[in-house]
Amino acid sequence: MLSHPLNSHILVTGGAGFMGSSFIRYLLEKDGFTGRITNLDLLTYAGNLDNVASVEKDGRYQFIQGDIRKADLLESLEDPPDIIVHFAAETHVDRSIKSPQVFLETNVLGTYHLLEYVRKHPATHFHHISTDEVYGALGLEGVFSESSPYRPNSPYSASKASSDHLVRSYAETYGISTTLSHASNNYGPCQYAEKFIPLMIEHAMQRKPLPVYGRGENRREWLFVADHSAAIYAILSHGKKGEVYNVGGGTELRNIDLLHKILELMGDASLKSLITYVEDRPGHDFRYAMQGDKIRALGWQPQWSLEEGLKETIRWMHEKSMCYSSKASL
Ligand SMILES: NC(=O)c1ccc[n+]([C@@H]2O[C@H](COP(=O)([O-])OP(=O)(O)OC[C@H]3O[C@@H](n4cnc5c(N)ncnc54)[C@H](O)[C@@H]3O)[C@@H](O)[C@H]2O)c1
Repeated sequence: MLSHPLNSHILVTGGAGFMGSSFIRYLLEKDGFTGRITNLDLLTYAGNLDNVASVEKDGRYQFIQGDIRKADLLESLEDPPDIIVHFAAETHVDRSIKSPQVFLETNVLGTYHLLEYVRKHPATHFHHISTDEVYGALGLEGVFSESSPYRPNSPYSASKASSDHLVRSYAETYGISTTLSHASNNYGPCQYAEKFIPLMIEHAMQRKPLPVYGRGENRREWLFVADHSAAIYAILSHGKKGEVYNVGGGTELRNIDLLHKILELMGDASLKSLITYVEDRPGHDFRYAMQGDKIRALGWQPQWSLEEGLKETIRWMHEKSMCYSSKASL
């Protein structure tokens, strides 16, 4: 890498969202972090400054409200960041099915504007946060590797795939410094309650029906969000310019089994009666799973078991206490 993350000025886009805020807290809690963080976020429905409330008074941190869809947004920065970590996106598959346009505007055009900025400021390294969903769906067997072909099936994953291709093309054509990571499904405290795990916990807490697509047979690989932040740090510290890394949690299970696990941890057997099977999502990918050798070779591995992560998420949903990043800071 051009500049070590510990003493860099890092611009985090989407840092008021679920995963971006975890990454900011992770960096600021890290021993020896002497750099600066600029959090650039539009604060859409998914952005929430409570997610970064624990760091807002930290002198190494500043927040800027701004829209990455605006071409000249970054030109107002006092100095170019050493590193951009690009989380900002429209992220909810169901919303992308109902209203795809904003997904193209934010995820594709927004990424393009950031890449144009980096093209003009080539000392800045660009890390792009992508998803396993760009690879499409697996059957019961097999895993995706970093060289698996792209087969996105939803407007969301197609928009993320487009942005990935733009990142690659800017590295190849203009020689900008990039890395890219594909994450599996993240979960943990501070996730907006439209995604599967917080939605189920919230509904169970309110004794509302627990809507499960189809028969709950779809399978996902789960990753606790603080582990994702540590993986991005590992890539920025030890990764190679131009490389792509798959970041999977390694714990794969059917949605229905995950829900049973959550309800079991919530300790009330009667909650199972709230499970309601609903019409499947159109184009619903059956299964995602990723080979994790490349990221593990950088010295990273998940620290949170599914059970530990779910317990923490349930605890947070009950208390809505401040967000944290590491086991040490619990
Ligand atoms: N959540 C997951 O399981 C998952 C898995 C793999 C990859 N990802 C990717 O990780 C990234 C972060 O996901 P998340 O779950 O934290 O998302 P999120 O929806 O919680 O947060 C997205 C953030 O981006 C901001 N944003 C949206 N449009 C913007 C714009 N035009 N300008 C500036 N900011 C804008 C929002 O205000 C919000 O704070 C996304 O790129 C997503 O595709 C997510």
